[in-house]
Amino acid sequence: MSAASPPERPKITLKLATSLDGRIATKSGESKWITGEAARMQVHRLRAEHAAVIVGSETVLADDPELTARTDPPAQSQPLRIVADSRGRTPPAAKLFSTLETGPVAVATLETTDLDQRGWPSSRGVQFWMLPADPENGSISLLELMHSATRAGVASIMIEGGGTLAASFVRAGLVDRIEWFRAPILLGGDGRPCLGGLGLAKLVDAPTYVRTSVREVGPDLWESYERTEKA
Ligand SMILES: NC(=O)c1ccc[n+]([C@@H]2O[C@H](COP(=O)([O-])OP(=O)(O)OC[C@H]3O[C@@H](n4cnc5c(N)ncnc54)[C@H](OP(=O)(O)O)[C@@H]3O)[C@@H](O)[C@H]2O)c1
Repeated sequence: MSAASPPERPKITLKLATSLDGRIATKSGESKWITGEAARMQVHRLRAEHAAVIVGSETVLADDPELTARTDPPAQSQPLRIVADSRGRTPPAAKLFSTLETGPVAVATLETTDLDQRGWPSSRGVQFWMLPADPENGSISLLELMHSATRAGVASIMIEGGGTLAASFVRAGLVDRIEWFRAPILLGGDGRPCLGGLGLAKLVDAPTYVRTSVREVGPDLWESYERTEKA
């Protein structure tokens, strides 16, 4: 690589924990727990293997996740926990902030967000990434988020939902790997999809992946996929 080459973006993994029919929550939003304990333990290991994890603001509001890597034995390092929160809706009492002694947090928000109004903790464990909007949807620009992550030294990010944020990453062509945990239950078409709309008119435009492994984890299946380039 020459000195003038742009820095590489972080590798992006999309983690999905779904029903057999690809749903991540019931119609009312209940999502705990779709997959079993063995699958959840693997997710904690995957967190520890990534430099960062990311969720959308709606997942924080619905589930108040910690997103720490809780492994046995304890993880040697914790991922940076990023929330994609354009409008600054993450509550100051969110578990992300009350667990700063375990691992750091980055709030990726619009550059117009008034940090003084939010009541978020100002501590060395919290970074604020002030980003421009994506003209398509008014939320933070994922390409700018990639730049901030690269500047912060983040080499890999695992997307942990929900479907809206995941679809934005897929639409932007940023998802390199998929780790899919699939539980043997059906939630139906009124359950929440693991992926929002991709706006595809033609099959030929669909992003494609090759399966690299399938494992049984308790009652669930764990499939791994890697992005393929179309010929
Ligand atoms: N089963 C599971 O493993 C699992 C995992 C995660 C979530 N869930 C469930 O999924 C549901 C939440 O999913 P969701 O699809 O409604 O919401 P989501 O993807 O968690 O969050 C969507 C929000 O993220 C924000 N965002 C910021 N930048 C974005 C960007 N560039 N592109 C897209 N969104 C961006 C947007 O709000 P702002 O623009 O205001 O920031 C958007 O409305 C909950 O019911 C939760 O329980 C299940």
